[in-house]
Amino acid sequence: MLAESVLHNRLPDALAGVDLPFLGAKTQGKVRDIYRHGDRLVLVTTDRLSAFDRILGLVPYKGQVLTQLAAWWFAETQDIIGNHLLDVPDPNVTIARICEPLPVEVVVRGYITGVTSTALWYQYSLGNRTIYGIDFPDGLRKNDALPEPIITPTTKARDGGHDERITSAEVVASGLVAASVWAQVCEAAIAVFKRGQELARRAGLILVDTKYEFGIAPDGSVVLIDEMHTPDSSRFWIADTFAERRAAGSEPDNFDKEFIRLYYAAHGYRGEGDPFPMPPELAVQAAARYIRTYEMLTGRTFAPGDYPADLRIENNLRRWLASTTP
Ligand SMILES: Nc1ncnc2c1ncn2[C@@H]1O[C@H](COP(=O)(O)OP(=O)(O)OP(=O)(O)O)[C@@H](O)[C@H]1O
Ligand SMILES: [Mg+2]
Repeated sequence: MLAESVLHNRLPDALAGVDLPFLGAKTQGKVRDIYRHGDRLVLVTTDRLSAFDRILGLVPYKGQVLTQLAAWWFAETQDIIGNHLLDVPDPNVTIARICEPLPVEVVVRGYITGVTSTALWYQYSLGNRTIYGIDFPDGLRKNDALPEPIITPTTKARDGGHDERITSAEVVASGLVAASVWAQVCEAAIAVFKRGQELARRAGLILVDTKYEFGIAPDGSVVLIDEMHTPDSSRFWIADTFAERRAAGSEPDNFDKEFIRLYYAAHGYRGEGDPFPMPPELAVQAAARYIRTYEMLTGRTFAPGDYPADLRIENNLRRWLASTTP
């Protein structure tokens, strides 16, 4: 594990983005810079941290953790469902098959929790007992495990809007996803989530909930795209302290991005207007958590790529380009 003083020294060199005109035109997601080369997608995962649908700042090594952790999970789940990953030519770069993304985000939840308006617990605490078209019994307490994981899809918001809740029935009835495809997606999402919970548990973590993106590959198959089971897309709790903290009436130890949201909430920001930039100490804490999560889940020691990363990425992608035909 890298010392916090080292992470602090890396702050000025965290990767804001890349500029690789030899790969053609760049498109930007909140976290990734993306190029298309023939039928390949070049996804460069930057160190940008987004929350509240905004970029709050840069977290050293976050892009590398996300890239390498997602690649590890893709390998650990490919017996259940195929995925878009082809190659990782640089610690921050994923080469993927270009797929047709489904227009819904597939959220899977194993626990009733959360504070935002889309969270199960928030809706339940308002007295709703039918949420996302699923019926819930009375008497659940915050952070209870659900008897079986559930799927709560949201539409994919365009142009900075917020994602909207939608039921499984609406996904199909609205024609967003064909019924046969949606059935495959749901089956795969639950199976992959259960595998995720199993592997997380072995690593001392609870996989609480997550968000998958699925796409249709060029061969017509339904595959996982984007990333999976990282602290950006998933909520993790520390397994060891869960029961004891519950008994004491306190919140689980979270090991994901939630502490950033809590920090902002504690400093008066709840998603209205422009957030204040992430303070340096918070960015260092975030980096340490991302790296620790990677190390716990994979059982590997994080090997930091050379910093600053931009020149290294450019060199590795020039080499990749020379060795590939579109
Ligand atoms: N294999 C793939 N084929 C096509 N698109 C993909 C694939 N994998 C990921 N994507 C898309 O690439 C983008 C990844 O970038 P990033 O994670 O930064 O975006 P985001 O901010 O989450 O989403 P967006 O900016 O689209 O709202 C997402 O829009 C995702 O849907
Ligand atoms: Mg994304």
